[in-house]
Amino acid sequence: MSYRQKHLLAIEGLYPPEIGHLLDLAESYVLLNRSGKTQRDLLRGRTLINLFFEDSTRTRTSFEIAGKRLGADVINMSVSTSSVNKGETLLDTAATLNAMHCDLLVVRHDQSGAPNLLAQKVDAAVINAGDGTHEHPTQALLDALTIRRRKGRLESLVVAICGDVLHSRVARSNIHLLTTMGSRVRVVGPPTLMPTEAERLGIEVFHDMERGLAGADIVMMLRLQRERMQRGLVPSAREYFRFFGLDAAKLAVAKPDALVMHPGPMNRGVEIDSAVADDPHRSVIREQVEMGVAVRMAVLDTLSRGHGRNEF
Ligand code: NCD
Repeated sequence: MSYRQKHLLAIEGLYPPEIGHLLDLAESYVLLNRSGKTQRDLLRGRTLINLFFEDSTRTRTSFEIAGKRLGADVINMSVSTSSVNKGETLLDTAATLNAMHCDLLVVRHDQSGAPNLLAQKVDAAVINAGDGTHEHPTQALLDALTIRRRKGRLESLVVAICGDVLHSRVARSNIHLLTTMGSRVRVVGPPTLMPTEAERLGIEVFHDMERGLAGADIVMMLRLQRERMQRGLVPSAREYFRFFGLDAAKLAVAKPDALVMHPGPMNRGVEIDSAVADDPHRSVIREQVEMGVAVRMAVLDTLSRGHGRNEF
């Protein structure tokens, strides 16, 4: 059984074989990318539109590279240059894109659920590139690929996701993926930044780094998302770093071979110390970026073949 959906809107609801299929295919793209070859016939004649209503560097670029390596025509639409600024609604934008016969639509939006809404209105396969505080499925897939290549598995690992979990779509997608694949997820951070639905998500909550990181296989740090905070949920950056910033001393309680991850962009000296972020023996942050391109190629490949439509 392979991937059974027309779109990729969320990790929640996917089955382990669907996740496994995307990761196996991504694995082959890692090899292709490292060989310096491309596969431009695969998406030749297809149009991919990157529709970004929110800032992004690595995610947008990585979808663009992924699409181009597979031969798609890639168009980047950022909000500042589109008529969304002139008051066009999301659904009008959808109708316009539909009329252009776009095949693959990659959407980032500050409202949770916006990609789902678009998916109901356009013919294209829609990929959620991050919606509000909801999900960021390709980030969780690239994190999973990084972990699986380093640890050889995705089950029975202890994963500590630390920091601003409340506002993080990356955390939510990772929680769904890792618990679905049989790992144990802990979230670690101040009470003001913890998710309210921990029990439903099947995760453990810690307010202390030493306890939360004890024996962890993976330490995943998150950016403090000040732009999504309505009021001051954290003290000063200095104080935050003292209690919740990852440095060598805090990392020492995790397993000796624990991996350090961060989706980027990093606030160095706020949630993570540069010495840890740049430590080649512990940090896989750059590898995550490399895996991002391979995962997005696998997603574009899979959705462009219309697997879901044929199998259902
Ligand atoms: C994340 C995002 O946009 O959700 N970044 C990313 O995609 N690499 C995390 C963040 O903004 O902190």
